[in-house]
Amino acid sequence: MSKTIMVSYEGNPCYTIEIQKDFCLLPEKLKALGYGNQKVCIISDSNVAAFYLEELKAMLASQFIYCTSFVFEAGESSKNTDTVGAVYQHLIQHQFDRKDLLVALGGGVVGDLAGFAAATYLRGIDFIQIPTTLLSQTDSSIGGKTGVDFMQYKNMVGAFYMPKLVYMNLSALKSLPARQFFAGTAELIKHGFIKDAAYTQFIENQSDKIIAQDYDAMEETIYQSCLIKRDVVERDPKEQGERALLNFGHTIGHAVEKLSDFKLSHGECVALGMVAAAYLSWKRGNIKREEFDQLKNILKEYKLPIVLNAFSHTPKEILAATKLDKKMEAGKVKFILLKTLGEAYVTKDVTDAEILEAISYIAASQM
Ligand code: GLY
Repeated sequence: MSKTIMVSYEGNPCYTIEIQKDFCLLPEKLKALGYGNQKVCIISDSNVAAFYLEELKAMLASQFIYCTSFVFEAGESSKNTDTVGAVYQHLIQHQFDRKDLLVALGGGVVGDLAGFAAATYLRGIDFIQIPTTLLSQTDSSIGGKTGVDFMQYKNMVGAFYMPKLVYMNLSALKSLPARQFFAGTAELIKHGFIKDAAYTQFIENQSDKIIAQDYDAMEETIYQSCLIKRDVVERDPKEQGERALLNFGHTIGHAVEKLSDFKLSHGECVALGMVAAAYLSWKRGNIKREEFDQLKNILKEYKLPIVLNAFSHTPKEILAATKLDKKMEAGKVKFILLKTLGEAYVTKDVTDAEILEAISYIAASQM
């Protein structure tokens, strides 16, 4: 009832992903890594802390010489350098040094922010990820991307910095609001679309069980997603090529997310972005109409949006926002398209007219 995946970095074993049903094995895993004789700081947000902070604190306080916590207001609006500064201040006040440990307890915002604080405090302090959302368990906690938003730019400041352990307690998913759970499925569905047709089939066939959060189905789908993500980040840890495929749906998705003032969640925007990118893939003759329809049906099945309803920005404004994304290279937007429903590729030759057509497609309710 548990699974372990080893992740290598630059050819060497680096950290494991532990897929567990509770937090019970966390002390043992930390001990095996040699932790205990130092201070530990748990970084979390106001939503997640309410559920798990006390349990984790009690667990770690008996194992470490000192245990403290830093909790910030939940939400993307906290993901900035001010909050990182407040973390540094907390660590300085509690006299943390380079041999101490940070624990990121929460979803993608917590993992990215705490990871960035770990990468930069005293030029690098160990950290572990305890992802509690589906999105962070299947995607953001793996591969060492850390960072925060800066001005109007999402994830603009950051570092590649590997955790020492990724420990997921799948039972934590039960406390997620339904909308957040479904938003998280966008990333695992994405893994199937870009890399693995058989996995896409699994996600489609097992949708009833996954939606009902049947434990075995959840464990299998998270495991499969982590394997796909692991393989990609091992081959291309610093996003020189293949790792960019994980940004499928993110070019237009990030623009919509930003323009919605984060009222639409990351996963929902990625779903919309995937429809737009798949539309372009179909228009270019890469995927068949049936594959495009299948992609939309899978997203619909998982209660993800495929139409941008009642959005207060025009397709032209969304196009302009895609140019503010950091996925630009030499003035060109890096776009991920599908060859098939299970294979993606990166291109920089998508024209503004094509992007505008794809945005207009999701903005119109013609589906
Ligand atoms: N979430 C995309 C990546 O880790 O590259």
